[in-house]
Amino acid sequence: MFSFQLLSALFSVALLVSAAPAFPGTPPKAGECCDTSAAIMDLPKNQTQLVAPTTAPLFVALGVGIQNYTCSTSTLKYTSTGAVASLFDISCIDKTPAFATIQTTAFNAWKAAPASLTATAIGAKVAAPSLLGFHYFVTAASGTGISPKWDFTSTGKNAGNATAFVIGAKVGDITAPTDSATNVDWLALNNAQGSLASKIFRIDTVAGQPPASCVAGSADISVKYTAKYYLY
Ligand SMILES: *[C@@H]1O[C@H](CO)[C@@H](O)[C@H](O)[C@H]1NC(C)=O
Ligand SMILES: *[C@@H]1O[C@H](CO)[C@@H](O)[C@H](O)[C@H]1NC(C)=O
Ligand SMILES: *[C@@H]1O[C@H](CO)[C@@H](O)[C@H](O)[C@H]1NC(C)=O
Repeated sequence: MFSFQLLSALFSVALLVSAAPAFPGTPPKAGECCDTSAAIMDLPKNQTQLVAPTTAPLFVALGVGIQNYTCSTSTLKYTSTGAVASLFDISCIDKTPAFATIQTTAFNAWKAAPASLTATAIGAKVAAPSLLGFHYFVTAASGTGISPKWDFTSTGKNAGNATAFVIGAKVGDITAPTDSATNVDWLALNNAQGSLASKIFRIDTVAGQPPASCVAGSADISVKYTAKYYLY
């Protein structure tokens, strides 16, 4: 589905043409992370759907991509048909002031990006240059429906490592604490397949929700979004 060489080329071009903000310290290479042992996932207190593990996360990532929807002719609402996102390491900026709002900074850059710019080019524009991998959907193991996958097998130090992926099964879901009509839900997922992580969380979402309703015959839509993903 993705060519690493092509993505690397696009990534290098993006690094050259964009005036990337100064990276604090030495920028990590693609797929490399900083120490995540002190990283803490900040969850709303008044809920039990998303429960932070007691161990440190393995990866702290920024996701930049799209949520896809189709118009259900029975409900005249948009229903999810999956998502595609590029995942950047943000463990290296975890304790910097930029971290709290990186998803908004990235969303603004992504929203303003011309159609020719891929999500993979956005990381370098927001001081998150290290591409960890990709998030997309695959046919569910049952053969019916789709399951979300986080795939690090083609990038950085995991390139060529066929087990560096995780397919998730949703176990928790809360509406976004702010602007939930605009921002997609915060989620908890457990490992259903793969060795990359045992739990995945999507939090700090920006945009991605479809319009509230659709008319019969509406075309499929893709809605840009960003989020933080914590993999444990
Ligand atoms: C989402 O939509 C885009 C077009 O906007 C398409 O390229 C992509 O394959 C779609 N992905 C999924 C999982 O539906
Ligand atoms: C949890 O608190 C947030 C504000 O901190 C509020 O917006 C939200 O509605 C609350 N959710 C529940 C389920 O009480
Ligand atoms: C391959 O990836 C898996 C999952 O991240 C990891 O546990 C394993 O150590 C990796 N293997 C090598 C040779 O790097």
